[in-house]
Amino acid sequence: MLCLGIESSCDETGLALVRDGELIGEQLSSQIDIHAVFGGVVPEIASREHLRMLPVLFDELLRSCDVTMKDVDVVSVARGPGLQGCLLMGLNFAKGLALASGTRLVGVNHLWAHLTAPGLEQKLEFPSLGLLVSGGHTHIYLIESPTEFTLLGRTLDDAAGEAFDKTAKSLNLPYPGGKLVDEFGSRGTVDKKMFPTPYVNNDNLDFSFSGLKTAVATYVNQHPELRLSNMGLPEEGSEPADITTMRNNMLASFNYVVGKALAIKVERALERNRNVRSLIVAGGVAANSVVRSVMADVARRFKLPLVLPSMHLCTDNGAMIAYSGYLIASAGYRHELDLDAIPRGRVVPADWVCDCR
Ligand code: KG4
Ligand code: ZN
Repeated sequence: MLCLGIESSCDETGLALVRDGELIGEQLSSQIDIHAVFGGVVPEIASREHLRMLPVLFDELLRSCDVTMKDVDVVSVARGPGLQGCLLMGLNFAKGLALASGTRLVGVNHLWAHLTAPGLEQKLEFPSLGLLVSGGHTHIYLIESPTEFTLLGRTLDDAAGEAFDKTAKSLNLPYPGGKLVDEFGSRGTVDKKMFPTPYVNNDNLDFSFSGLKTAVATYVNQHPELRLSNMGLPEEGSEPADITTMRNNMLASFNYVVGKALAIKVERALERNRNVRSLIVAGGVAANSVVRSVMADVARRFKLPLVLPSMHLCTDNGAMIAYSGYLIASAGYRHELDLDAIPRGRVVPADWVCDCR
């Protein structure tokens, strides 16, 4: 089964081809530079950029893999959650292809696709506990199979990635700053008392990062010298070394409490779901070095295999959509042309049509 995947839910246009569960080619165009000057993704610009790039990447992908639409069995597309206008670009492109070629159409939940993406690299064991940490979501799922997800916990306000990006922004570091917080923090020393571990003194599996955001803002206001005068990266020699050290220590301490909060809730979820056979951690923030290391500790304590996608599969890409579409289509599901886009904040329905008997 050859599956074409299309991702356009935020600021990355990604297309990929997966044959029988194996990635055979992919194309990715990131808009990070376009949005960086605005300090965040501008939905209207992002949509237009998807519209511009989709046909270009599509042609290049098919050419480089030496296939035509006649060879493609499934067109799968991220149908949400995401920015509505962006999703519609991918969705309509996918529908056009499916209609013109008579190919099966499958709408994919972008969050589920993040969590099953490591299946491209290793065999996934189910049931699994899944932690999805991205720019828009922080979800804990019980995953019974690639098509059966139960949401156990979620963020009540900001997502983990948002907390990283806002912390970076408060220091005038460019968007998306998560990677920079990770990089600079890894050069600093953790002060465990600098920030409180957010939203752990309760009995649930939810997250909240808004209190931490306030604590970071307060700290930066008390130490305004940490804020860069112009948005950008601190250049070597451009500021006193003790300021760089203090900023790195602050970022190390911030990263520490985020990792700790994630670990506490994942451990709690594992204690309540003793039958799981693996721990999957995915999404953009799964690229974070502290998150990767604390999750390795959690998995070790519970004697579970830790499944982490490699770095290029952590952030948004077409391969994960192609693979999820392949899994869903293999289970006998498809969508009709009335498939709709689901914006952030709404639950993505599993409203496939089943060809199975
Ligand atoms: O999954 P993703 O590519 O897009 C969404 O679906 O949101 O995640 C993007 C998020 C951004 O907030 C970005 O700052 C964060 O992932 N991120 C990181 C790291 N790399 C990317 N956050 C912390 N540490 C990193 N190394
Ligand atoms: Zn994502």
